[in-house]
Amino acid sequence: MLSPEELRHWDRHHVWHAFTQMHEYEPLLIERGEGTWLVDSDGTRYLDGSASMWCAVHGHRHPRLDSALQAQLAKVAHTTNLGLSNPTTVEFARRLAEVAPPGLDRVFFSGDGSSAIETALKMAFQYWLQAAPPRPGRTRFIAIGEAYHGDTLGAIGVGGVDRFTAMFAPLTFEAVRLPSPGGPCPATGRPAPPLGEALANVEQALVSHAGEVAAIIMEPLMQAAAGIYVHPPGFLRGVAELARRHDVLLILDEVAVGFGRTGTMFACQQEDVTPDFLCLAKGLTAGYLPMAATLTTERVWNAFLGSHTDRRTFFHGHTYGGNPLAAAVGIASLDIFRDERTLESLPPKIERLREHATRIAALPHVGAVRQCGLAAGFDLVADKASGTAYPWQERRGMRACLAARSHGALLRPLGDVVVAWPPLSITLEELDHLLAATAAGIRAVTEV
Ligand SMILES: Cc1ncc(COP(=O)(O)O)c(C=O)c1O
Repeated sequence: MLSPEELRHWDRHHVWHAFTQMHEYEPLLIERGEGTWLVDSDGTRYLDGSASMWCAVHGHRHPRLDSALQAQLAKVAHTTNLGLSNPTTVEFARRLAEVAPPGLDRVFFSGDGSSAIETALKMAFQYWLQAAPPRPGRTRFIAIGEAYHGDTLGAIGVGGVDRFTAMFAPLTFEAVRLPSPGGPCPATGRPAPPLGEALANVEQALVSHAGEVAAIIMEPLMQAAAGIYVHPPGFLRGVAELARRHDVLLILDEVAVGFGRTGTMFACQQEDVTPDFLCLAKGLTAGYLPMAATLTTERVWNAFLGSHTDRRTFFHGHTYGGNPLAAAVGIASLDIFRDERTLESLPPKIERLREHATRIAALPHVGAVRQCGLAAGFDLVADKASGTAYPWQERRGMRACLAARSHGALLRPLGDVVVAWPPLSITLEELDHLLAATAAGIRAVTEV
């Protein structure tokens, strides 16, 4: 048995952590999870304030998720879905189609959120090649500024968080990018366009790129990684109507917001929108195993049918797509949503988060505060009156989250936006604790 000190040493030496400057990295080893709590190798307990990167919708070690996994393990851990199937994956696809907006009956499984996006982009492109009549000129995508759709090259092509992706621009394609109506652009300081202008921008792009656009891609209601940018009500519906009117496909990325985060099972249900592609991951398996899904319609599916000699097949796949262990836990997660009435339990929690957010907004170095469902982002600012940002090199957001650890919460910032994104299963008392720790972390690094 390795000591925590040995593990920390090996961690520093061998493990290259995502989005982490390894030269400055300080290991924290999480050994166990219990409900909303995580426990480190020294036995210290923390509330999981990021739901383990927006995944653990029911918290950790839920008995029904654990036993679904064990039951599937007693049958088979993995079989390929390249031309083969298994009962658990079939059942999961059916259950997803039941809870998704009507018409999204065809489910393509992959391994993570970025892969769900790649799948949708390639399917949309190939759809137009095989549509009647074919429209091979449709090679471009309209995307929203500050969008985050993952880190693979296609996902970067439609992404807009430049601090992560700008250097990779030569490796990928360029989307038609429109300013986000969810937040002021931090790079230019330009304010977010109001709803009418944002929709006019979309229409203008559709007109000036007529015949070139395969699809519009967006995160519905809230752009999460941008810094919890909340769109004005009606934006999603407006974009969906424009997509239909101009006959381009709509890809909704619900990798972050799907599975209850905004208060409904899927964010698009709040504006009664059924996209052509719905991309899911993270909460799909309640964070237990990597799995993603791209749901699509009969119209898209039909364009890919024919004899193999027609070469209409979707030549795309991921080794672990449809993995039965992941599917088993995904089914159990949907059962929990139904039996524990997870969505019905959310309104008081969302309200309690709003009360805390209002209090935190009054802190002297908190600028804008944005909330969507059970997620909130707090902008840390050097000067509240003018909204002037701190120099990014000072890493105030990261330091606030590190300071919150000594108050019993693990948080993950987005630049200088401190984010609260707890498991949906959090209790009101735990929410009080989490937001008290959030406020304490912010004060510790802004009021010195
Ligand atoms: C909206 C959105 N899309 C896609 C992704 C990429 O998912 P993954 O990290 O599983 O590839 C993320 C990840 O945070 C996301 O928030």
